[in-house]
Amino acid sequence: MSAFTSARPGESTPALSDAHRGPGGVLEIPQRFLMGPGPANADPRILAAQSLPLLGHMHPPFIKIMDEVQQGLRYLFQTDSKYTLCASGTGHAGMEMAIANLVEPGETIVVGNNGIWGTRVCDMAERFGANVVNLQTPAGTSFSLETLTAALKEHKPAVLFLCQGESSTGVHQSLAGVGDVCRETGTLLLVDTVCSLGGVPLYADEWKVDAIYSGSQKCLSAPPGAAPLMFGERAQAKLKARKTKVRSYYLDLNLVGNYWGWDAPQPRAYHHTGMTSMWYAMREALAIVSEEGLDAMWARHEAVHKQLWEGLGAMGLQPFVQNPADRLLTVNTIKVPEGVDWAAVCANAMAKFNVEIAGGLGPTAGQIWRVGLMGYNARPANVELVLAAFRDGLKQQGYIK
Ligand SMILES: Cc1ncc(COP(=O)(O)O)c(C=O)c1O
Repeated sequence: MSAFTSARPGESTPALSDAHRGPGGVLEIPQRFLMGPGPANADPRILAAQSLPLLGHMHPPFIKIMDEVQQGLRYLFQTDSKYTLCASGTGHAGMEMAIANLVEPGETIVVGNNGIWGTRVCDMAERFGANVVNLQTPAGTSFSLETLTAALKEHKPAVLFLCQGESSTGVHQSLAGVGDVCRETGTLLLVDTVCSLGGVPLYADEWKVDAIYSGSQKCLSAPPGAAPLMFGERAQAKLKARKTKVRSYYLDLNLVGNYWGWDAPQPRAYHHTGMTSMWYAMREALAIVSEEGLDAMWARHEAVHKQLWEGLGAMGLQPFVQNPADRLLTVNTIKVPEGVDWAAVCANAMAKFNVEIAGGLGPTAGQIWRVGLMGYNARPANVELVLAAFRDGLKQQGYIK
């Protein structure tokens, strides 16, 4: 006979194993300045919003919060499209959602690939059965409109992918004129804004961007876990005209969009449990964006970027991105000088200043440092701290006196 009435007849109930009992005690976290490419420190007001009581994910007060998130996203993306939402997950969830829904098997996608994000989009699009054209330009450079136009005219793809803020290289991809050419070739323009949204200008409608995804943990100052997404009218029409089923159930925008009210006045249906606390965070993050105003936010990011480079320049450090017009404000990439141990500088910054400075990633590994100036962290005092950490680390390396 079992000691537990909940055990089913015949189920054995041996002595409980304590071998893997979890930790006890209250969680403690060191205070760190996350000045790498992300996540950035979250705004305490956003963290406080996450600790509010849970609501049911179909309760009217929660639906109201989702509506507010969608409204805030329209401002952030500068779009009138009703098709905005947050994907449940990090930036990759937004990336995969956009590709899974926009591209049908056998269709062509031209991927502007100048760092690891383009490489990942190639991989994902291939998994969804697309014919992938991997359009490359060296790390540290962006695509010219001429190059993009030629690729669009040659391949007439269903989708063109560009990354506005390439965080592995620190490159800002201009979107000027790209949307117009995409319209000429019947192509949908998909843009990754994970590292750039809220930090640099973006006008989805004006620039004719058809689909955008982003992340919560960078310039929006929220924790990781939400991927803001926008589909314009053309992208939504493509979704509704698909000949094949979206190959991911979890990310199918026909279903997720319905839960976010995209099919109104048709009623919303449960698809997966709403990310209650995460949507509270996004509601608060977007309220903060609206209160500050996008123009003020963009100006703040530009000002701290300038402040950083004045300080780095005074130490003799050089930008990795040669063309000033290609430099991303939010993730700054700095060449590691000959003979300097980049990892020792990062380790010293963490040990002595509690400051995270990151090394390179993908094509830039070992060649650069990356400093993120995003959202809540895009403040003069944080820049001073980063500069102090560099000065100290470079002195130890004998690079400066
Ligand atoms: C430009 C860019 N795209 C996509 C991603 C992926 O986002 P996540 O790591 O939140 O999934 C990142 C993450 O750093 C990024 O910087």
